[in-house]
Amino acid sequence: MVPALKLFLIYIAIQPIASCDLDIKLPNGQVTKSSSWFLGDNIKFVCNRGFSLQGKLWHLGTGNIGKRYCAKAGCTDIKKPDNGAIFTATDGLKAEIECDAGFVLRGNSVTYCNGTKWIIKLGTCQMANHTGDYSCDFEREDQCGWIASKAIPQPWKRISAAADFRKDKCLHKDHTFQSDVEGHFIRLQSQVHASRTSHFISPIYPRSLTLGHSLWFQFQLFMFGTEVRDLTISVKPSSMAVEDMWTSFGNMCTKLTVSGDQGPNWRSQSIFIDEMKSDFQVVFTFTNPSSLHGDIGIDDVKFIKTEKQVKLRINVAQ
Ligand SMILES: *[C@@H]1O[C@H](CO)[C@@H](O)[C@H](O)[C@H]1NC(C)=O
Ligand SMILES: *[C@@H]1O[C@H](CO)[C@@H](O)[C@H](O)[C@H]1NC(C)=O
Repeated sequence: MVPALKLFLIYIAIQPIASCDLDIKLPNGQVTKSSSWFLGDNIKFVCNRGFSLQGKLWHLGTGNIGKRYCAKAGCTDIKKPDNGAIFTATDGLKAEIECDAGFVLRGNSVTYCNGTKWIIKLGTCQMANHTGDYSCDFEREDQCGWIASKAIPQPWKRISAAADFRKDKCLHKDHTFQSDVEGHFIRLQSQVHASRTSHFISPIYPRSLTLGHSLWFQFQLFMFGTEVRDLTISVKPSSMAVEDMWTSFGNMCTKLTVSGDQGPNWRSQSIFIDEMKSDFQVVFTFTNPSSLHGDIGIDDVKFIKTEKQVKLRINVAQ
């Protein structure tokens, strides 16, 4: 009994306090994993007899773990979508959607058959020009016009919950669908080589949005980890270069700086936008991606109009 008890105590001692370890599942297959601090993860994906693995057999080392699927033919053909086409692999294991010119994919581009049903819901094709309310859930492939400042490697990435596992980090669920198989969001990846200030920039919003009422810009933020510091949200005139804003006009443009661990959940944040004299943009800035030990995610950005003067503080968790 004594050795068993000892093992049990050690086991408790090495459990992280708030464990975000992902349970890596492979329906119709098996996952074997081991990890060590010097080699990272060592994960093997094997499908049951009759299924074939979509993705690599092994995942080695640290970093993102692409999701694998065990596929088997037998699904019915997917109906041709509006404004796009479906390409089904000749072996019947995989199908892909492609949108016609002038249309943009919203949702997932690839799915696999599990023998009877397609596993991932495929997206739809939407008109390429942006629509009305300037909100964005990052389901659209074009990110509704949001872009990152140039950097190699690029720390801001659009993540698909259906395509990406992540170990040791809590952020794996999309906010829009609250799902770890459906949805997309933006993640700031910690990167050893990326030491430069990095911006994530909205499309240009018209000045008229800020007139005649009070305007709030709301976003969902996931910020978790031991060393997550200083994500700054700014608003600038569209004619001002992002670099100039950051180096010379910080006082004027900075609306909010979020610093430190905000817990392993998506939280709603918002900034007030004053009446602008010109068209404008919203900018997220992170100063040093190499120092990030944790996760930062952004999802579901939108504008909220309230009656003028009523500057109520909207800051409801979730
Ligand atoms: C395939 O997916 C469907 C729908 O999710 C499920 O009902 C079925 O059990 C799955 N089949 C296998 C072999 O996993
Ligand atoms: C997008 O383009 C289509 C035709 O190309 C047009 O009918 C529609 O009004 C446009 N929508 C917006 C929001 O500009």
